[in-house]
Amino acid sequence: MAIERTLSIIKPDGVEKGVIGKVIARFEEQGLKPIAIRLTQLSKADAEGFYAVHKARSFFADLVKFMTSGPVVLMVLEGEGAVAKNREIMGATDPAKAAPGTLRKDFATNIEKNTVHGSDSLENAKVEVSYFFPEVQIHSYQWKK
Ligand code: RTP
Ligand code: MG
Repeated sequence: MAIERTLSIIKPDGVEKGVIGKVIARFEEQGLKPIAIRLTQLSKADAEGFYAVHKARSFFADLVKFMTSGPVVLMVLEGEGAVAKNREIMGATDPAKAAPGTLRKDFATNIEKNTVHGSDSLENAKVEVSYFFPEVQIHSYQWKK
């Protein structure tokens, strides 16, 4: 499988719960390398632009409010099949439906406060990575042969 990059966000509930280290550990243990990390608080415009695909959804206003409610950790993860692997590590959107051992099963509060975001396709990953990280801020990881 090819080495891919994907965007991960530890959402405000994850930062508030104090699980930044635990979340990053799960990624590292399962072969995903953080190659860029930034702690920040999203503006309304940042969050609206980022989740623009959900603009028409009933939960959009609440989602923007939640995503701007406190600090988040933005990360670029790199690894083999990183897009799908990240989604697997995260678990289902609704923690009640997430598989055992996934981040959302273990740390999420509910379908909105679900601890992590992950790009859902390679195409979206490219758009989302460049939304938050200019190429110059991304470290090139040397993968061992
Ligand atoms: P994400 O984009 O954050 O990785 O989550 P996802 O792909 O698993 O789920 P998606 O359908 O893209 O929804 C984006 C985020 O919106 C919030 N949400 N709230 N109240 C609701 O019914 C509802 N549904 C979704 C969640 O924070 C979800 O992760
Ligand atoms: Mg999504």
